[in-house]
Amino acid sequence: MQEISNNDRAVMRWLQLCLVLIFTMVILGGVTRLTGSGLSMVTWHPTGVLPPLTTEQWLAEFQLYQQFPEYQKLNRDMSLDGFKSIFWFEYSHRMLGRLIGLVFLLPFVYFCLRKMIKPGLTPRLLVMFVLGGLQGVLGWYMVKSGLVSNPHVSQYRLSAHLLSAILIYGFILWTIFNLAVAKPYCRLAESRVAAWRKASLALVALVLLTIVSGGFVAGLKAGLIYNTFPLMGSKLIPEGIGALSPWYLNPLENLVTVQFDHRWLAVSLGLLLITWYLRGRSRFDEPGLQRSFKLVGMMVIVQLVLGIATLLLQVPVLLGALHQAGALLLFSVLLFNIHALSRV
Ligand code: HEM
Repeated sequence: MQEISNNDRAVMRWLQLCLVLIFTMVILGGVTRLTGSGLSMVTWHPTGVLPPLTTEQWLAEFQLYQQFPEYQKLNRDMSLDGFKSIFWFEYSHRMLGRLIGLVFLLPFVYFCLRKMIKPGLTPRLLVMFVLGGLQGVLGWYMVKSGLVSNPHVSQYRLSAHLLSAILIYGFILWTIFNLAVAKPYCRLAESRVAAWRKASLALVALVLLTIVSGGFVAGLKAGLIYNTFPLMGSKLIPEGIGALSPWYLNPLENLVTVQFDHRWLAVSLGLLLITWYLRGRSRFDEPGLQRSFKLVGMMVIVQLVLGIATLLLQVPVLLGALHQAGALLLFSVLLFNIHALSRV
């Protein structure tokens, strides 16, 4: 196998660092939401970095928050200390976003000046940077949806913010895989595993759909109704599942339907991925590829267990965050598996 050049290795290490930071960012975003901290900063200054430092500054920030419905309707008895504790989560999430921007941009400029980036990769890296910036704008657009009389962020915007974070993450991860394996990507039709790779694309789409449906559960707090599994209450198909009219609003806005869809989409995905693992294990001999199938099989079981535990225990912060991390890891191992498939 071809050796990876020193330049490619340096670019790869840099992207790995960005990826770890983005992973942390997604989890921190989840914790911010799970702790009810996401609406504590009611203004957006993309270049501002300092938190309130003096008591006066803290009081001014708290007074700003008090003008918005979340305080007025849900948190009227909140003290300044209580405000500080929710503020720090949202602040850290925003600052980490800016740090990621710098950690991406500065080495990128350096690598460009030293001509260390291999031909064809620069446009991809530029797209990553632009998408990262747009992700920040989308985050603020999401927060704004909760700064209104109903102080909850829109489930549509939350899911869009989550999905685009995961797509950026996947884009960087795939680029890292390409750099790590110097052998060129073989075209679908030329490969003896074309059918497998086509099926794998459908699986990625299903993982993404399950993730988006999870975003809807999170956005609507639909994980707090029917904390039983597999039945919802005492029924497999609970009452009220089609209560909204027109019918197409149910999967988007009806808490019962949203929870129902997520749990059964996830279970179907689980069964498909376990079958995928079992068939892949017996079909391919290459140890690396076998390992990648095994990772998918293991990770989907972990994720199902985490999802069910999150539901049964009524979404504790730790489990909610682990379940979100599990979704990212499942997506990562599936990409790893598909990348390995593209090399045989
Ligand atoms: C293997 C497949 C699964 C994937 C990929 C997945 C993914 C996700 C994602 C991405 C979220 C949103 C997290 C957030 O924005 O904070 C979520 C939320 C949730 N999921 Fe899953 N999930 C899976 C399986 C399950 C299962 C089997 C259950 C339970 C039966 C479940 C129950 C929940 C609950 C209750 C929430 C809401 C948590 C909250 O409010 O933070 N999930 N899921």
